[in-house]
Amino acid sequence: MLPLGPASAPQPGHPGYPPGVADGEGFLIRARITGVGSCLPPRVVTNDDLAALIDTSDEWIVQRTGIRERRWVEPEVTTSDLALAAASEALEAAGIGASDLDMIILATLSPDHEFPGTACFLQAKLGVAGCAALDVRQQCTGFIYAVSVADQFLRTGFCRRALVVGAEVHSKGLDVSTPGRDLAVLFGDGAGAVVLEAGETAADGPGILSTHLHADGSGATDLWLPAPGMAYERFMSADLLERRLQFPQMNGRAVYVNAVKRMAEAVVEAVAANGMKVEDVDLFLFHQANLRINEAVTERLGLLPERVFNTIDRFANTTAATIPLGMHEALRTGRLEKGMVVCGAAFGSGFTWGSMLLRW
Ligand code: COA
Repeated sequence: MLPLGPASAPQPGHPGYPPGVADGEGFLIRARITGVGSCLPPRVVTNDDLAALIDTSDEWIVQRTGIRERRWVEPEVTTSDLALAAASEALEAAGIGASDLDMIILATLSPDHEFPGTACFLQAKLGVAGCAALDVRQQCTGFIYAVSVADQFLRTGFCRRALVVGAEVHSKGLDVSTPGRDLAVLFGDGAGAVVLEAGETAADGPGILSTHLHADGSGATDLWLPAPGMAYERFMSADLLERRLQFPQMNGRAVYVNAVKRMAEAVVEAVAANGMKVEDVDLFLFHQANLRINEAVTERLGLLPERVFNTIDRFANTTAATIPLGMHEALRTGRLEKGMVVCGAAFGSGFTWGSMLLRW
């Protein structure tokens, strides 16, 4: 039996934050990632493929974003399909089955349906019932929020094993025409998943060290999908379609400026809360919205560029899937090794932003 944690688990830096739940013998209860998986649809869409459909060019896209290609699903594939493939791989890597899970948390901005949450569809596809299933709708910060939610439940003893997935099918929702070109070139489809398990560890042992979550709703309409929605006379109507409100809209400049500022702040907050410096972090897994954003954060914080793991050139922005996809890729390519200190940070629609610091 795990000892019960505190009734609430305040964040590092806030009064009363416990470094973990002590068991009286110098060990802590932490959530630890025990399995990682990912899924990328096989269809590669290059910048030239897009330039054949809309008024854009490989040169413009590479220069402004660093993106060279992205993956798009075939028409019959859904977000929960990608989530299932990533989750199955993560469960296998963790050496557990879906029936061992106490909780499934799925972060997405591209749900299979308006309701119920896509976590429920994933649960059914995993062939299990009974455990909690929860959607997180925090866009590009979705995976960080989802890990933080799982971390609270695991450290307090509410559950022992949680599956956290980020999955997106963007391609079906983009305006792939010249009026929508600012957003159409930025996004890709994919999924990443981790299994998180509560366990005892020494203070310098592995696990999630902290998470920090933030939002500023005054930026909500700087990156949003206006319709469908209950804000209108009808949830969906011919008028809304005619006004093209079913396509995402973005104030690219505002997103860019806030992303650089907030991601840098999130990193500083994460390391400070753990008594570390940015130099102590071995690998940064930043959200991948635009290579220039990550280069600006790297420069602003004086990070060693080789410690920042970027995937945007091949996968583009896969929103909530980005960080677990990057984590899996870093593991697969030998960039992520036991004992490393890893910092994940993200910024996205909402505005939302946050960080997680962990020891692998
Ligand atoms: N291909 C060619 N031209 C494009 C284009 C595309 N895909 N998208 C936009 N343009 C055009 C615009 O129509 C505009 O033309 P105009 O000057 O004739 O009106 C021009 O390019 C915009 O240029 P500029 O303002 O210099 O672009 P930028 O340097 O701000 O870059 C973004 C635009 C979108 C790449 C940049 O603002 C950005 O990355 N913002 C953050 C986006 C993001 O990360 N979103 C997801 C966050 S989670």
